[in-house]
Amino acid sequence: MANVVVVGAQWGDEGKGKIVDWLSERADIIARFQGGHNAGHTLVIDGKVYKLNALPSGVVRGGKLSVIGNGVVLDPWHLIKEIESIRGQGVEISPESLMIAENTPLILPIHGELDRAREEIASKGTKIGTTGRGIGPAYEDKVGRRSVRVADLADDATLEARVDRALQHHDPLRKGLGIEAIDRDALVAQLKEIAKEILPYAAPVWKVLNEKRKAGKRILFEGAQGALLDIDFGTYPFVTSSNVIAGQAATGVGMGPGAIDYVLGIVKAYTTRVGEGPFPTELDDEDGLRLGTRGHEFGTVTGRKRRCGWFDAALVRQTCATSGVTGISFTKLDVLDGFETLKICVGYDLDGKALDYLPTAADEQARCKPIYEEMPGWSETTEGARSWNDLPANAIKYIKRVEELIECPVAMLSTSPEREDTILVTDPFED
Ligand code: GDP
Ligand code: IMO
Ligand code: MG
Repeated sequence: MANVVVVGAQWGDEGKGKIVDWLSERADIIARFQGGHNAGHTLVIDGKVYKLNALPSGVVRGGKLSVIGNGVVLDPWHLIKEIESIRGQGVEISPESLMIAENTPLILPIHGELDRAREEIASKGTKIGTTGRGIGPAYEDKVGRRSVRVADLADDATLEARVDRALQHHDPLRKGLGIEAIDRDALVAQLKEIAKEILPYAAPVWKVLNEKRKAGKRILFEGAQGALLDIDFGTYPFVTSSNVIAGQAATGVGMGPGAIDYVLGIVKAYTTRVGEGPFPTELDDEDGLRLGTRGHEFGTVTGRKRRCGWFDAALVRQTCATSGVTGISFTKLDVLDGFETLKICVGYDLDGKALDYLPTAADEQARCKPIYEEMPGWSETTEGARSWNDLPANAIKYIKRVEELIECPVAMLSTSPEREDTILVTDPFED
């Protein structure tokens, strides 16, 4: 019996969706514990592509329970559209296979509008480059104690009172930003309509999961984003608005920290980032272009081009520590095929001083210059490799050096977007 948490160990888009889908065969329950539909997870199964935002990546396998935990912020209209779209691809989704925590806060249209309006007026240097999906404002309302939560949809009087409480805060904000006033009655009517579609999935997730754990069921906790976008440990303020690191898995569904047996960090063989903020190993040259082209580095949610750079071992060592990573899944190794020389960042030069971690102050982060170590690349292809023995000697040397530098072993490897192009070194459920 083991429960595994999957977290991104860089700036998101490390290939979490593919790995969660692969591992979900070994799990009974797949639970999202933070973030919202800012996440974009792509699965490729026998050539068929599935794109998920709010639904857990285990949803395409039959016979599993998918869970949306209280740590998530949920846009109910988006979720229903996503369910319809995934059903259209032949996947069965019903209240038997999907459960939403009753204490999950909702993302309302006012949140997306506020998110986009703030980004629009932000001056150079203060724009975050958000996904525009209302994530930040929805989390602000959660900690401000004025969210409309899933359970509120069940009672009209409570729902109306919650909407009024939220609008008391949002009306003056909207006025100040020049956003037109919200039609309160229309919003209430929209919520009453969507309530009929959402409520069948609502459940006391904390209770169900604790009971299932006692009964010996295996839980796979699915993180979204990456540790460098964490609200506390990321490159603040250029971060998302939730805790992304593994500790959040417990609070994001209502379980104790003892429920977590293994933390799998998902690590891309190089580095990418979407949106603004510091990125020490970013490349603005042929190599960066090559990584972006070979890796098809375009955001799933916004279609934006992802910024690309060399692997940053100092950053990953740091995120492995803050998430307590047991082992990593090293993804997109195939994208490095054909490079003559590969660079790995092993630390930073900050105004002439050597650092082995990224400092906290934003101005210092921006001034950090990477210190590189060089390694020979390989001319052979690793694309589609399904066994360690299929890997070229220099690829193995690269992986081994990464393990040393990040002080964490490789448990899995991914060599293409396809589900089965995956190498298992250590089974996280059995470790
Ligand atoms: P996530 O947000 O962490 O789930 O990652 P995304 O799905 O946003 O981005 C990862 C992209 O890389 C997707 O298009 C995947 O299909 C693709 N991908 C995942 N693993 C591999 C791999 O090992 N090699 C290659 N070439 N692509 C991969
Ligand atoms: P997955 O789960 C990559 C980034 C945005 C922006 C910042 C804040 O696919 O890895 P937000 O809309 O959350 O307020 O935006 O966070 N961001 C992501 N970048 N992958 C993601 O998710 C992301 N989710 C948010 O680009 O820089
Ligand atoms: Mg993604």
